[in-house]
Amino acid sequence: MADTTLDLTGVPREDAYVQLDAHVRAVLEGVDDDIAAMATMSALIHHAFGHLWTGFYRVVEPGVLLRVGPYQGSLGCLDIRFGRGVCGTSAAEARTVVVPDVHAFPGHITCDARSRSEIVVPVFDRAGQLIAVLDIDSSETAAFGDEDQAGLERIVGWFAAPRG
Ligand code: SME
Repeated sequence: MADTTLDLTGVPREDAYVQLDAHVRAVLEGVDDDIAAMATMSALIHHAFGHLWTGFYRVVEPGVLLRVGPYQGSLGCLDIRFGRGVCGTSAAEARTVVVPDVHAFPGHITCDARSRSEIVVPVFDRAGQLIAVLDIDSSETAAFGDEDQAGLERIVGWFAAPRG
């Protein structure tokens, strides 16, 4: 069923991401709209795992500024500058940043005091340009590992893949 969210809590992460990636691609079949794709991915990832916050910060000024949305969860900070916080670090360095303990990350930006760990994955378009970062927050410490990084990088690979 492509038209419902999946509950993947309790499923081993590697299997969960295989299912989630297939589900995302099925829902987005024939779609050529980045915002619709970001909204769909946010909803599916968020509800699959019960995260605290799941969403995108889009590049609105290349090399300078990220802006929130689409996302699922509690209120997110609106703007983040490149180089600031976990999101700005991921954007500035164009790499995935995994933070097992947000209190140990210098400059972490607190949007929700319940957040304990975080993963931020850069999102590239077909031309290899950075268009956004995918940010996920958990209320659990060390909630994200290598399987999450690989699975999430594969999901956002949708933006760099040929469409239609
Ligand atoms: N914690 C992030 C800010 C975004 S929110 O968590 C939604 C950061 O340090 O970049």
